[in-house]
Amino acid sequence: MTDSTNTNPAIENYLLEERSFEPSDQFKQNAIIKDAAIYETADKDYLKFWEQQANQLHWFKPFDKVLEWNLPFAKWFLGGTLNASYNCLDRHVNNGLKDKIAYYFEGEPGDKRSMTYGELLDEVEKFATVLVSLGVKKGDTVAIYMPMILELPVAMLACARLGAAHSVVFGGFSASALSDRINDAESKVVVTADGGFRRGVVVPLKDNVDEAIKSSPVVESVVVVKRVGDKHPVTMLENRDYFYHDLMSQVTERIGAVEVDSENLLFLLYTSGTTAKPKGIMHTTGGYLTQVAFTHKAVFDLHADSDIYWCAADIGWVTGHSYIVYGPLANGATGVIYEGTPDFPDKDRWWSIIEEYKVTILYAAPTAIRTFMKWGIEYLKKHDLSSLRLLGSVGEPINPEAWMWYRENVGLNKCPVVDTWWQTETGSIMISPLPGITKTKPGSATFPLPAIGAEVVDDTGKKVTLGGGYLTLTRPWPSMLRGIYKDPERYQQTYWSRFDQRYFAGDGAKVDEEGYLWLLGRVDDVMNVSGHRVSTTEVESALVDHSAVAEAAVVGANDATTGQAIIAFVTLKSTESASPEKGEELRAHVAEKIGPIAKPKVIIFTEDLPKTRSGKIMRRLLRDVAEGRNLGDTTTLADPKVVEEIKQKAALNTSED
Ligand code: WTA
Repeated sequence: MTDSTNTNPAIENYLLEERSFEPSDQFKQNAIIKDAAIYETADKDYLKFWEQQANQLHWFKPFDKVLEWNLPFAKWFLGGTLNASYNCLDRHVNNGLKDKIAYYFEGEPGDKRSMTYGELLDEVEKFATVLVSLGVKKGDTVAIYMPMILELPVAMLACARLGAAHSVVFGGFSASALSDRINDAESKVVVTADGGFRRGVVVPLKDNVDEAIKSSPVVESVVVVKRVGDKHPVTMLENRDYFYHDLMSQVTERIGAVEVDSENLLFLLYTSGTTAKPKGIMHTTGGYLTQVAFTHKAVFDLHADSDIYWCAADIGWVTGHSYIVYGPLANGATGVIYEGTPDFPDKDRWWSIIEEYKVTILYAAPTAIRTFMKWGIEYLKKHDLSSLRLLGSVGEPINPEAWMWYRENVGLNKCPVVDTWWQTETGSIMISPLPGITKTKPGSATFPLPAIGAEVVDDTGKKVTLGGGYLTLTRPWPSMLRGIYKDPERYQQTYWSRFDQRYFAGDGAKVDEEGYLWLLGRVDDVMNVSGHRVSTTEVESALVDHSAVAEAAVVGANDATTGQAIIAFVTLKSTESASPEKGEELRAHVAEKIGPIAKPKVIIFTEDLPKTRSGKIMRRLLRDVAEGRNLGDTTTLADPKVVEEIKQKAALNTSED
């Protein structure tokens, strides 16, 4: 692939985004971090900076060394001992926050529940006792496969309390994906529920566990939380399966937090790589907790005594681990957990939750934002959203139009928008505005956070100061992955071999004249058309910029003449209808926004786009459809029907320029 990023007219054009937003005076005045000197201080001595952040936590024994760095292997806060559950619970209860709400829970059917820090601690202590009775001890790994209910953070924290690691498997994964993860982590205990609610239908989690265990003989016990009850009865195997509530009611003893080493494994979280086998990303205790707590406070400007914080991710993904469970609880925040989908029973569910709980901080994914754009603002208009004061975005590049829509319609033009870039591997947010300091630009994640080293480099590893290239991280950071479970070689190979002394994130990014970073998505999503590099994100952004378009996904398909050809999958707004003329109009629009080089060769109109259950557009799959290849595993797909529909349309639609 030739590198023509610095001369690509498409890039210059994208960098012409001229809108920018300073934090309001009022926001600045009340911000937790308002002095930009923090960047310089952290830069001068990043180890000292992290030492100070780590000292915000409770340590049983203080650490005596901040970092031991044998590239690519890091150890943080050596010699220190602590416990994550103690930091998230006992510490606050001991500080007079026993009766403070830790979580408001809203079930999809409309049932509500809340839990104070005192109640959460009580539940976690009891469940830790249950786990011990099932033979779990420090060093073990417990699999957790649950819906978004309060017993999910309880189970995670109970593992942490014992010094055991958890391996949360997203409830949308299939039995076979679950089995692979159980086997890789050798989890003897699985915590699950009879089911969960999704769009009014029961997701049969326990049935899936039963199925998974057929190929996971390592499992000795299954704990089942009753969530759906009579709506979906489950089969319980004697001496293997136990109801959570039965076990909990027998507990008399309470387990105190076990003192663990800073580098004790806190959790494994499996993430898909470029190969078929998912990678077990390892995160340890001291460094992870230090950075999630700092970033949660700094990026969301958390005022723990007054904010109501809602991260609308699923705990099954890293966003939920770091910014529903560990970050917020370490900071003593009050959070909202919602079990279901945004369109149940109607498309205003999120807005009704924000109104009801007076949510002040919302953290969501661009794909959700674009879906809401598609549905129209009448759903927002029904509710009072004035409690909101800050909006976050995560998970994929946010196109400027979605960013603006979010700011104007959800944030009512008064909330700073923080676009946060990070990965399962980084553990916490790495690139993001600080809302009381940074001038934001729609579509840009702006700058690396204090103490973080992030640079864009070209193919040869040379730093790019203006234009596009690959995003790399230049310094170790406390919440960095400690490796891939059982596969140190793959860790080295995947992240540390492409560029010398740099962590390669797998993302493309660009730097503008003011040094702002613009994330472009995975580099395998960057197309090369006639020797020009064109980002799928840019073309998507141009398409979504057209008033008729609700959502678009663009892939590069192999092309004998141009190397790659741009194929666009487009969902129109409900008031629009697809036609060849509309296709032409959109192609012209893209040409106008970016340049003729970025014009899609083919536009396929579709009702919906195939997405993973975490809401990411499955570009690999779209590329396969575009190139007529056989489809591999689609078990993480939200709605497999979408693929069929797209395949059929693709077969009919091969218009040439
Ligand atoms: C993408 C999710 C652009 C990126 C926290 C990264 C983003 C991958 C952003 C990690 C963002 C995440 N702007 N792209 N703000 N945030 N990404 O592991 O490609 O599920 O490499 O972690 O999501 O996804 P993961």
